[in-house]
Amino acid sequence: MFERLEPITPDGILALLAAYRADADPRKVDLGIGVYRDEHGETPILEAVRAAENALHAGQTTKAYVGPTGLAGFNSAMEQLVFGASHPVLASGRLRTVQAPGGCGALRLGAEIIRTASPRSVVHVPTPTWANHVPLLGGAGLALEDYQYFDPATGGVHFAAMRAAIERLPAGAVVLLHASCHNPTGADLSTEQWRELLELVKRRSLLPFIDMAYQGLGEELDADAYAIRLFAAELPEVVCAVSCSKNFGLYRERTGALHLIASTHAAADAALSNMVKIARGIWSMPPDHGAAVVHGVLTDAALRKSWEGELASMRIRITALRAAVVRALREHCPQRDFSFIARQRGMFSYFGITTAQVRELRARHHIYMTDDSRMNVAGLREENIEYFAQAVAEVLGHG
Ligand code: LMR
Repeated sequence: MFERLEPITPDGILALLAAYRADADPRKVDLGIGVYRDEHGETPILEAVRAAENALHAGQTTKAYVGPTGLAGFNSAMEQLVFGASHPVLASGRLRTVQAPGGCGALRLGAEIIRTASPRSVVHVPTPTWANHVPLLGGAGLALEDYQYFDPATGGVHFAAMRAAIERLPAGAVVLLHASCHNPTGADLSTEQWRELLELVKRRSLLPFIDMAYQGLGEELDADAYAIRLFAAELPEVVCAVSCSKNFGLYRERTGALHLIASTHAAADAALSNMVKIARGIWSMPPDHGAAVVHGVLTDAALRKSWEGELASMRIRITALRAAVVRALREHCPQRDFSFIARQRGMFSYFGITTAQVRELRARHHIYMTDDSRMNVAGLREENIEYFAQAVAEVLGHG
């Protein structure tokens, strides 16, 4: 059986992680996988998470299954976090939430429920988009098509091209949107652009499928969820995949949720029963630990406050790193404008150098970013920004 399999090239992000780990050079810099790092280059467990884990271990009485939709308390805490505690959709009877193994599990579940409801659906994804969107959504049997999103000339969103592409979509088409901190570019829509997009989505009867993996790491918790809240208030149907990997630092605990808004209470119930069936056929029931921790953090006033403070520190640090790297690059590569890095949000920036230059940075300077020149700004440290900027200058031929 397995002799017939051809080896395949590993996913670029995972291959880079392995190469970085294998590199013994002390100067190495990991700007690859999207994981937050502090000023020591560590990805620590958040204090609020640690406290919630301790309370959980002390009070936990069973390891029996949580059930196919996950922990009810987590699901409702996530609804309040994502939509806002007073959002009308919470009391509408049209929202259903299923806990999923990470944002990936939520994305896959979202794709599967869309395919179940409408097997010939096409999902329109931004160019570029997170590389794993393609296998996650395509693997569910959905066709994928691109729409133009990023403008390399400005380092921002090419909103005119995006709007024109979406304007051409047929009714019922699915549009994948990144709520905030776009992965891989860091380029987000403004609130005015979101409102314009909403009118377009409404007029064209499109289904928004919104991925939010970085709530709180762009502007702040509410602002980062602006698009989801706006769309949820105005549209009959919205699908949102949410991850707790980055904002709670729970990466390996695989904690996420799928929120589905249907046009009626009955349609929402039918969708939920289908999602339960789909989940049962893939992971059966979700892992508990991360969700129980998030529930503990969000429902304890002191822990929530501490978590919001830690989240703000991560965000402030990333923003400061963005400013610092722009300054250093201005000094070492004055011929080239990298100021867009400071305008982008979240962990990532599309750096805009060629694949050959990315590989040279890796081979000669032990600086790791994905071949498309996506860099995780949070992987930089105050003490290696200078090294990074000098290396870039050398690779670009300015040094
Ligand atoms: C990333 O984009 O690097 C992260 O979301 C981690 C992953 O699984 O790819």
